[in-house]
Amino acid sequence: MPVIRRLSGLEILDSRGRPTVQATCELSSGVMATISVPSGASTGAHEAHELRDGDPQRYRGLGCRRAVSHIHGEIQAALAGRTLYDQGELDQSLIELDGTADKSRLGANAILAVSLAFARAAALEQGVPLYRYFAGLLGDGEARTLPRPTINLFSGGKHAGGQVSIQDLLLVPVAAQTMDQALATVVEVFQCAAELNRERYGVRLLTADEGGLAPPFPSIEAMWDDALAAIRRAGFEPGREVALAVDVASSHFYSEGYYALSADQRLSPAEMIDQIAAWLTDYPIVSVEDGLSEEDWDHWPDLRARLDGRALVLGDDFLCTNPARIQRAIDSGAANALLLKVNQIGTLTEAGEACQLARAAGWHVTISARSGETEDHWLADLAVGWGGDHIKIGSITQSERLAKYNRLLAIEAETGLPIR
Ligand code: PGA
Ligand code: ZN
Repeated sequence: MPVIRRLSGLEILDSRGRPTVQATCELSSGVMATISVPSGASTGAHEAHELRDGDPQRYRGLGCRRAVSHIHGEIQAALAGRTLYDQGELDQSLIELDGTADKSRLGANAILAVSLAFARAAALEQGVPLYRYFAGLLGDGEARTLPRPTINLFSGGKHAGGQVSIQDLLLVPVAAQTMDQALATVVEVFQCAAELNRERYGVRLLTADEGGLAPPFPSIEAMWDDALAAIRRAGFEPGREVALAVDVASSHFYSEGYYALSADQRLSPAEMIDQIAAWLTDYPIVSVEDGLSEEDWDHWPDLRARLDGRALVLGDDFLCTNPARIQRAIDSGAANALLLKVNQIGTLTEAGEACQLARAAGWHVTISARSGETEDHWLADLAVGWGGDHIKIGSITQSERLAKYNRLLAIEAETGLPIR
């Protein structure tokens, strides 16, 4: 059984140049592991609390020195030398030590960094790859499939300059039989889309936070049309070979009961649902994330009923990887797919509960990165270990994303597992 000898933290920078937290966990066996946590920008109101220093003189208040000091300080003092039965016991100790509902005292960034660093160290000590360790947290330790990637092509909203209100349009290589084929397909479509952008908007390749292209689309429909044109130009058939997914991230343009979809479109929830259904009629969309606001509980069941059997009704900000919110959504028939981001809830154990709850309800699970990422690639192992149907990492252009795609390729080569 693992015994923690030492914990340390380090403030590092994420892919947007904002501070985030890295932790190192040393076990009494001498095994040592380091891990980094990501950070969002289009965050849900109900996420666990990232502790930031708030000093405007340093990183515009976003410093993580206090969170890091809690790792060396209080967390290490409470855990070092203790024999921990398993991940569950570690995470429960962290939750109790923090003592708040949203992990705001020690910081969800500090707590998650310790939870993950312990996982990586424990996997090393057991001599198993990280994806097998994760698989053991929820099941028998066997990974059976690789997730199908959903990969950002175009971006707007909070991840770009707000060119369109919709945050991300993603490609889903539905016909790919292997991870390698999936990535090769998407890279080809991405290149064709970049060429089209140059021809139509005269812009060079400018990318958003997660690496999506962000030209000045005149309308949302122009964005959908360009995606289809890029798929065709790359030699693929839209829908049959490459489908689309969308992260509407609509909480960010919802206010007082209305969705400000564009300058001249202020839609009621019913009109917003009509609009999404109309997109599904015109375009091969297989997944709709946050189609309605995180507060619009009354209308999510209508959205689900309307899209059932056509596209996944996927909750990100709406569910916040929070078991209580997921249970409420299951009970009210409000969604049928979970976007799982471990740092929305703050420990591996609670994220695992969220995953199992969704699975038990027959939901689909997408394992997701954040817009502020690091070069760490534990997310690929998590998606394999927890049997994610989809993985959402971002575009195919930036190393903090590619570290995870490359890890998926390595896991594929090592295991020969089929893609879902
Ligand atoms: P993030 O958003 O900026 O909060 O990471 C990503 C997403 O909305 O899926
Ligand atoms: Zn989202």
